[in-house]
Amino acid sequence: MASSNNTAFQNAVDRAFELIIRHPLTINLIMSVTGFVITVQMLPKFYDLFIHAGLSGKDMSKKVLPGRKPVIVPESLGVVAGAVFLIMMFLFIPVPFWKPLTDKEPGFPHHEFVEFIAALLSICCMVFLGFADDVLELRWRHKLTLPTIATLPLLMVYIVNYGSTTIIVPKPFRIYLGNDVDLWLLYYVYMGMLAVFCTNAINILSGINGVEAGQSLVIGFSIIIFNFIELSGKFRETHQFSLFFMMPFCAVCAAILYHNWYPSGLFVGDTFCYFAGMTFAVVGILGHFSKTMLLFFIPQVINFLFSVPQLFRFVPCPRHRLPKYNPKTDKLGMSYTQFKSKDLNIIGRLFVWLFSTLRLIEIKTGVGEDGQYTQSNNFTLINFVLRLVGPTHEQTLVIYMLIIQCLGSCAAFFIRFPLAGVFYDVVE
Ligand code: UD1
Ligand code: MG
Repeated sequence: MASSNNTAFQNAVDRAFELIIRHPLTINLIMSVTGFVITVQMLPKFYDLFIHAGLSGKDMSKKVLPGRKPVIVPESLGVVAGAVFLIMMFLFIPVPFWKPLTDKEPGFPHHEFVEFIAALLSICCMVFLGFADDVLELRWRHKLTLPTIATLPLLMVYIVNYGSTTIIVPKPFRIYLGNDVDLWLLYYVYMGMLAVFCTNAINILSGINGVEAGQSLVIGFSIIIFNFIELSGKFRETHQFSLFFMMPFCAVCAAILYHNWYPSGLFVGDTFCYFAGMTFAVVGILGHFSKTMLLFFIPQVINFLFSVPQLFRFVPCPRHRLPKYNPKTDKLGMSYTQFKSKDLNIIGRLFVWLFSTLRLIEIKTGVGEDGQYTQSNNFTLINFVLRLVGPTHEQTLVIYMLIIQCLGSCAAFFIRFPLAGVFYDVVE
């Protein structure tokens, strides 16, 4: 009797394992939903801990009542989201590799396994470096080098597994360059720069409640939709690999957005921006769809290009470029920078002339105490939106920014699918 019970139990366990092995995406989804619920409940429990540790920031766009202190919000909670994500991923590792491990015939996919581990190592590295940035307030040059360092494990795996640095040339350029070009070292430079771009691009499109986590969630969902479309195609494995990372990522991202939404209970910190950017770079590189992934970054690319004069200091860049809060109207308006025109170098003057001619910025001359200063709004996409719509409430503004992000994704899908045939031979 006992032995038949044992066999029944064994059979049930085997069936359960079989089910898990056959449906890794479903298991991943169940883990993601669980991760979301746990993160949503867990985050507020860390608030006091973070504030006591000095990890907090002033919410600059909130009213300070007379005699009251400014609103202080715990910062860098992205580290909690990152930790939950990593734990989920560590627990998930056996799922896709269980079948090949228990299969009798040889052929464990070591290359896929090492990709998985290297991807997690790079993301883990970036969470750690992002947290270091939040605690130590690193300089801009460090912000550029850290993501490059964190991608090294990934690039090593890429070199060992693929080694191919050849790209297919878009059709219009084939008469000059031929069908494909070997980019060699440049290809690795491109991949290193992808991580630097993704991490920093999210970090500089920021400053209003919910915008960092919101844009990351839209990008994450767009990648998930793209992966699901491609699951039925030729490169099923790589898109499934991407989904294993993106679903848990979107889960923790949604949890953090829930608390970061106006009025914010927490700030995500640079930790989250780095964690999000690196996760996108990892799936783009190892999933072999880095170009499509960059298409989901259209607003970030625009914001980055717009920011170039200030990022590279051709035009003075204040410590904060976030919109300016007006306590009388409870609305946000553009934020400004001031400079003496004659102090700008030729490139700076050229940028100011170009941007004001294109009506991207608003220039006011003869300001300051002695009237020798020029005033311009800061060169950010958020300020440009404010220039178009006028002073706006913070919550409405973040909704506008997320609509722009969604429109960017629609444009990306249009470029990727109907338009791609113009540039590449589309493989079904
Ligand atoms: C980047 C931007 C900076 C922007 C800042 C805030 C560049 C080059 N840098 O700097 O212009 O002002 O992010 O996002 O573009 N904060 C709010 N409300 C929010 C989010 C943040 O008031 O919804 C404030 C808080 O005081 C918080 C601080 O911004 O403590 C965080 O800034 P931090 O992430 O340290 O700024 P950077 O990433 O260096
Ligand atoms: Mg930041």
